[in-house]
Amino acid sequence: MKIGIIGAGTMGNGIAHVFSLYENEVILVDISEDILNTAFSNIKKNMLRQCKKNVIGDKKMDSSLNKITLSTSINTLNNCDLIIEAVREDFEIKTNVFKKLDSICKKETIFASNTSSISISKLGNEISRTDKFIGMHFMNPVPIMKLIEVIKGKKTSNKTLEFIMSLAKSIEKIPVECNDAPGFVSNRILMPMINEAAYCFMEGIAEVKAIDSIMKLGMGHPMGPLKLADLIGIDVCVFIMDILYEGFKDEKYKACPILKKMIEENKLGKKTKEGFYSYEF
Ligand code: NAI
Repeated sequence: MKIGIIGAGTMGNGIAHVFSLYENEVILVDISEDILNTAFSNIKKNMLRQCKKNVIGDKKMDSSLNKITLSTSINTLNNCDLIIEAVREDFEIKTNVFKKLDSICKKETIFASNTSSISISKLGNEISRTDKFIGMHFMNPVPIMKLIEVIKGKKTSNKTLEFIMSLAKSIEKIPVECNDAPGFVSNRILMPMINEAAYCFMEGIAEVKAIDSIMKLGMGHPMGPLKLADLIGIDVCVFIMDILYEGFKDEKYKACPILKKMIEENKLGKKTKEGFYSYEF
């Protein structure tokens, strides 16, 4: 299968990594060579880690890396069977990318978006092949996390859905289907939980570590909600809460004020070295 991936950031390079391991030809596109080279060295670093753990062998790593082509031109994606978009979480940027792809790709090509919150039906309506448009929400880090949340837009055909479900299984992921709604299933449940954890801290009900320990030890979560918020990015959490709030027009989805204050103070979590926790690099 020939898979095009547009956006070579955190998610794009993980997606390229996984598809290349399963004999797919991958074309990874981004806006600059520097970004692409960083993405490729991240893929190599992560594959080397898999080699050390005996998940893959050296030969497999070399042949997989050879299956990845880097390009700064979107036009190189014209002949792909599937294109997965993983550019920034911005409706305008994603729409422009899909409109361009719609004009250059063969008519059979299926388009999938890795968006974590933007409506699949709304994105799909911007292009002509709405029936071949679907949400393919990978989890971070892609090489490790098994789930792909597969989101069916209002006009996504069953044929497209079946193709994506079977392709996901071919890369040994577990696809789970849901319908299009704000936050889909994953973020509709996860983000309010993180938001409530932030309220617990803001109202002085418990310290950060205590909140996380209660959820880890009591609910069996591998990571506490505040640590997870730092990992995802406080700005991303607020962005998704805003999408839920706008989508459902329900006060219960209003982002906790302490999260907004953290954004003003540039305490965005791990990426700025400070969030609910401090990080030394
Ligand atoms: P990122 O910021 O790490 O990477 C985005 C990449 O897109 C950048 O390298 C940027 O240069 C590139 N880009 C922007 N405009 C472009 C264009 N016109 N053409 C080609 N490349 C372009 O973002 P990240 O975290 O990888 O997120 C990508 C998507 O995946 C977003 O929709 C996000 O919501 C979603 N997502 C993110 C998760 C995460 O944990 N980071 C988890 C699940 C989904």
